[in-house]
Amino acid sequence: MERVGVLNIILSFTFLLATQGLSEDLPCAARDVGIEGRSIVCVCNATYCDTIYREAVPPGTYFMYTSSNAGKRFEKSSGVIEVAEESFDDDETGADIISDFKNFPAYDDEDDDFQETIWNRVVLRLFTIIRSQFLEGFGGSVTDAAAINWRKLSDPTQREFIRSYFSTDGLEYNLIRVPIGGADFSTHPYTYNELPWNDGALSNFSLSDEDFFFKLPMIKLAQEAAPEEIKITASTWSPPIWMKTNERITGFGQVKPEFYQSYADYHIRFIEEYEKAEVKIWAITTTNEPINGIVPIVNFNSLGWTPAQLGRWVANNLGPTVRNSKFNQTLILAVDDQRYIIPIWLRGMESADPRSIEYIDGIAIHYYGNFVPPDILSRIHHRYPGKILLSTEACEGPMPWDLLKVEVGSWARARRYTRNILEDLNNYVVGWIDWNLCLDPEGGPNWAENFVDAPILVYEENDEFIKQPMFYAMGHFSKFIPRGSRVIRAARRSLATLENIAVLTPRDTIVMVIQNRYTSERSVRINIDNTRFIRFRMEPESIKTIEINPNS
Ligand SMILES: *[C@@H]1O[C@H](CO)[C@@H](O)[C@H](O)[C@H]1NC(C)=O
Ligand SMILES: *[C@@H]1O[C@H](CO)[C@@H](O)[C@H](O)[C@H]1NC(C)=O
Ligand SMILES: *[C@@H]1O[C@H](CO)[C@@H](O)[C@H](O)[C@H]1NC(C)=O
Repeated sequence: MERVGVLNIILSFTFLLATQGLSEDLPCAARDVGIEGRSIVCVCNATYCDTIYREAVPPGTYFMYTSSNAGKRFEKSSGVIEVAEESFDDDETGADIISDFKNFPAYDDEDDDFQETIWNRVVLRLFTIIRSQFLEGFGGSVTDAAAINWRKLSDPTQREFIRSYFSTDGLEYNLIRVPIGGADFSTHPYTYNELPWNDGALSNFSLSDEDFFFKLPMIKLAQEAAPEEIKITASTWSPPIWMKTNERITGFGQVKPEFYQSYADYHIRFIEEYEKAEVKIWAITTTNEPINGIVPIVNFNSLGWTPAQLGRWVANNLGPTVRNSKFNQTLILAVDDQRYIIPIWLRGMESADPRSIEYIDGIAIHYYGNFVPPDILSRIHHRYPGKILLSTEACEGPMPWDLLKVEVGSWARARRYTRNILEDLNNYVVGWIDWNLCLDPEGGPNWAENFVDAPILVYEENDEFIKQPMFYAMGHFSKFIPRGSRVIRAARRSLATLENIAVLTPRDTIVMVIQNRYTSERSVRINIDNTRFIRFRMEPESIKTIEINPNS
């Protein structure tokens, strides 16, 4: 029978790989965190840290990487693309139709209790010709807190840390966000050029110790470790307080109109100083979370911009200053705040001065308003089609009602990261930057006591760091979706479905990320074209990345 033949091919292929040898990954040194309902964490120290190599995928085959609440971390498996005897006779429009269930034979290869039903059987159909946005990549933020924690580790452990995030045996992050001056994730509030007072010419602008001892060294080692360019986005939280109406670091305060140009120049000065240290800034945002200085419910570094003020500043000061400078290629990303305020701010900017929209290259979006459905992002994309959407900040545990700031080993937090990244990528977002690369076990330091969770926690006293499930959630995207990949259509063809994204990579492969957030198993079949497909089981509460080489 046909099926036996296919199985034989799978077996011999697996054998071939086994004999030729896969990359030698070091497995997760798992630690049970000892709390009911939590997953494991992976422990790294000066002499041991788990690694992950991406396997090359021969034509006609696929590689799969699985992480799960039950404890898998990038577990590898492989298979061949199967060929059906008859065409699926699918429509080419990509419209979401529920397929005729009996068109597909049941998945009964595995000898176990799993019973396929319409409720647990997922069929997806790829349309490589229906293409959407190109992707820039994935990454995290080099805050003062992240870099200070990292430097508490010994040199060998610091190197393991950098490799874990940036190397080819790690997550291959290719984006970084860095605060311009201090943020709440600093040990004290500070800005550049605090003195002399009212120094509009910025005659005393200089970087801080945090830049020289912590952030720049971390960024430079990351750049050395990374196989390709790391694109860096920089954001100001608060300018020197003499520029602000309230002359305070936080609270209701905007830029005094006489310092609009100085605040634009402040950004250019920062880019210049970072360039002197050989760190190129790829993009700046127009100020972190401008709503915090308008509706001041937070108590950390902020600067308010009403939509009209922001429009006038970008049109008259920031836009022309950047474009007429040596750094004219630097992208300007507007708003840098929660998804629900973005349409209001963009419209207000546009009506205050339409040139503000011409000056911006894109829109930066934060994570903490994601109770608003993600299709708001598609609407923004369609209204401002030439502008990229970049997710610039995300973390778990920041809300007043998050009783646990750090929830060590939490799979639920990895699941939320995964769901949000999938939703963003399915709504025109081109890249996704996590917040602090690491924090201490309390979720700090943070001078405003705004503690949160991070994918890596640093335990100074043991000279070790732990990789939480969120680290692997990030890696399921960053490791396998290279810059220049393009989102393609993955259409649902069954009643049951799972959250997913599909991209076409510059390597000419297809990469899919799929999440099963249910506590029961699913069977998945992915139709690649009219006759070829792959199929597999999806463990409860798991994430899979599948790289398919559809070429023959
Ligand atoms: C480092 O981690 C490895 C693997 O978990 C362990 O065997 C070793 O004892 C650790 N070293 C120290 C100094 O804790
Ligand atoms: C310049 O800034 C430094 C802090 O970076 C400060 O100590 C010094 O007083 C400032 N100079 C003047 C002239 O204000
Ligand atoms: C942008 O700046 C570079 C120098 O960094 C300069 O050579 C180039 O002519 C500028 N381009 C425009 C369009 O102004």
